Amino acid sequence: MKILRFGVIGAGLMGREFASAAARWMHLKDMPARPEIVAVCNLEPEPLAWFKAHCPGVTQTTDDYKALLANPDVEAVYIAVPHNMHREIYSAAIEAGKHVFGEKPFGIDLEANQGILDALARHPKVLARCCSQFPYFPAVQRIGRMIEEGAFGEILEVNAGFLHSSDLDPNKPANWKRLVKFNGEYGVLGDLGMHVCHVPFRVGWEPRNVRAVLSNVIRQRPDGRGGSVACDTWDNATLLCEAGDPLSGAVFPMTLKMQRIAPGEANTWYLEIKGLKGCARFSTREANLLHLMEYRGGAQDWRAAVVGYTPLFPAITGPIFEFGFTDAVLQMWAAFVTELSGAKLPDSPLAQVATPEEAHLSHRLFTASLASARNGSVEKL
Ligand SMILES: NC(=O)c1ccc[n+]([C@@H]2O[C@H](COP(=O)([O-])OP(=O)(O)OC[C@H]3O[C@@H](n4cnc5c(N)ncnc54)[C@H](O)[C@@H]3O)[C@@H](O)[C@H]2O)c1
Repeated sequence: MKILRFGVIGAGLMGREFASAAARWMHLKDMPARPEIVAVCNLEPEPLAWFKAHCPGVTQTTDDYKALLANPDVEAVYIAVPHNMHREIYSAAIEAGKHVFGEKPFGIDLEANQGILDALARHPKVLARCCSQFPYFPAVQRIGRMIEEGAFGEILEVNAGFLHSSDLDPNKPANWKRLVKFNGEYGVLGDLGMHVCHVPFRVGWEPRNVRAVLSNVIRQRPDGRGGSVACDTWDNATLLCEAGDPLSGAVFPMTLKMQRIAPGEANTWYLEIKGLKGCARFSTREANLLHLMEYRGGAQDWRAAVVGYTPLFPAITGPIFEFGFTDAVLQMWAAFVTELSGAKLPDSPLAQVATPEEAHLSHRLFTASLASARNGSVEKL
């Protein structure tokens, strides 16, 4: 099996998720290639020691991303750093000719995102993708195929969202994600938005306009050092868009919701599609169920299909078992590594990891959303 040598820049929460996925690559069947982490960069030393202890292939640890990018052994990088560093580090990686798997939002704002796209335009041989793992839940893959086949008929309404409660506790100390300086003016839009947009954008449901309601719920938090700090990012966002469906030509309302303060939700990503011929409803709260309704006249019966462990990339786990967050992360990495190896992706509209163009569209939407919330206006895209 071909080995693709990776560097990790940003060894925090998500950097370690990649290390874990790479470490259980044997879980996947018949892969054309596998990733090996050979270099790690992080500002604080503890995560570097963690990588050294858990990833035997690591030969370079550094706090200087330029040193990692100068390492000729590194073919591709996973960059998972705070948003204020995206433009600088993504662009430097692209200029160094490294393939890039970048975390969302792929730039702290539209201008930074454009800077990354400009670097990519100068280096067309670099493969760049933006992290978004939820489409790899088996039920969502099934929804993707249904959309492709026109199973919903004329689209009437789409609701997608990502709700979690990581900020519900007002006593939780602020971290970089609560501060505009590091997280950006987008706030929760930048944190959770790409996850919500990925499937609608991929199937062509582009927003034509947006009316956004943004809330900053908890404005002050402990700073973790005995004091307190102002939290100046948006916590919750509701976007009402008009979207067009390229298949049926329908124009329909699409609601995209992103919340960091959602009581009762741990990490819930959901998608609901209502069409004249059929409807589907999926939530990671019930990760193995896909609710479906087909309407051909007569009874309107919803049924719950048990999807089980039937992922895009076959794995050793059998179909009667259950699928979860870390499985979705592994599947997403399988998609990126397959594409990077030059092998063919499985046949699915949701096989490819989010593209820089999709990330760019999300930036246009989030920038318009900020204007809409500021002016109380409907903003055209
Ligand atoms: N896909 C997902 O589900 C998901 C979940 C959480 C976060 N994210 C994204 O991942 C990225 C990182 O988030 P996180 O939660 O892992 O953050 P984190 O705070 O856990 O880790 C970030 C790490 O980056 C390091 N870092 C900061 N500046 C650096 C620099 N100049 N050079 C090298 N290292 C540097 C820090 O030392 C830290 O360890 C963000 O873009 C975030 O939006 C994605």
